[in-house]
Amino acid sequence: MTSAFSPRRILVTGGCGFIGSNFVRWVVREQPGVHMTVLDKLTYAGNPENIAGLPADRVELVVGDICDAALVNRLVERADAVVHFAAESHNDNSIADPEPFVRTNVNGTYALIEACRKYDVRYHHVSTDEVYGDLALDDPARFTEETPYRPSSPYSSTKAASDMLVRAWVRTYGLRATISNCSNNYGPYQHVEKFIPRQITNILCGMRPVLYGDGRNVRDWIHVDDHSSALWEVLTCGRIGETYLVGADGERSNIEVLRAILHVMGRPEDEFDRVRDRPGHDRRYAIDPTKIRRELGWWPVHTDFEAGLAETIPWYRDNEPWWRPAKEETEAKYATQA
Ligand code: NAD
Ligand code: TYD
Repeated sequence: MTSAFSPRRILVTGGCGFIGSNFVRWVVREQPGVHMTVLDKLTYAGNPENIAGLPADRVELVVGDICDAALVNRLVERADAVVHFAAESHNDNSIADPEPFVRTNVNGTYALIEACRKYDVRYHHVSTDEVYGDLALDDPARFTEETPYRPSSPYSSTKAASDMLVRAWVRTYGLRATISNCSNNYGPYQHVEKFIPRQITNILCGMRPVLYGDGRNVRDWIHVDDHSSALWEVLTCGRIGETYLVGADGERSNIEVLRAILHVMGRPEDEFDRVRDRPGHDRRYAIDPTKIRRELGWWPVHTDFEAGLAETIPWYRDNEPWWRPAKEETEAKYATQA
């Protein structure tokens, strides 16, 4: 599509995390001439290795906190767009300790939109379908942009709060902002606390995969590169003030995903443990992506989830030095939550 807006200097918050770093790599590959400043606090989830080796004239890393208004102002002033990924992003952590979620997801977003308002900078807010709560397994409906917000966890409620701030700043101050709410991502560089990398690396370590509850919960999976291309479409062609839902028709139950992983990795399909369910565990997420397809002509490339998964597994097999340092720490954290 022809771009209506051509950013040249983008501030990418959380660019050392899973989706942010894949977005930075995607832009370096697909959008020549765009410079990105990554602002990242390097929490347990941020790893500078995720953007290592990229050309220095395209990507600069600033280590800092999005809640630091003075720093955020300095960086926003010299950008022509902000793409905001930085967040505390894991539901299980939010149940164990919600405080950092409120701080980063709500106060951090506030600092960013205030700076964008001050310097009149285009802002894109990366959010999640979890703000809509969950659907019953037998509900024929999927989430649309009109679905009422009904978040269930500390994580999703802080993301919902941040979305609401953005909407209010658009209406009250004329902030030039868009919001996207995407479904569950998979791909390389995802932290080993999350479902798919946890199971793959458990198997690689000789440990049994871990399934919560009955395993019938459904997530709607999208390859992270498809999320990146959708974000680019919304940033450059999206209508100001609009929300776009991003999904790739990838609904699968957790047990189906786990069996697919076991199959690709040559393990018996019943070689896993069932553990206590997550408190308040959302049953099903599902995205209706009609609006972004119709309005922006965006379409995912990775339309075969099992093929995408089969491509992702070797990345973890080949990059053990990347995930190994976080693995023990993550499993120790899970052991205290069990
Ligand atoms: P992640 O946890 O892998 O990465 C988060 C990054 O933010 C890390 O690099 C971390 O160091 C950084 N960060 C955290 N607090 C910060 C702070 N106060 N200041 C600066 N940097 C900070 O998360 P992710 O899975 O890549 O998710 C990125 C965004 O996408 C989040 O906003 C999340 O809500 C949203 N999202 C995620 C998914 C998913 O499936 N993972 C789906 C839809 C939307
Ligand atoms: P997760 O990757 O934490 O993403 P989200 O909670 O944002 O959907 O979990 C995906 C699904 O997998 C969710 O239904 C919880 C489940 N799950 C397990 O069954 N076992 C695990 O070890 C983890 C981490 C998650």
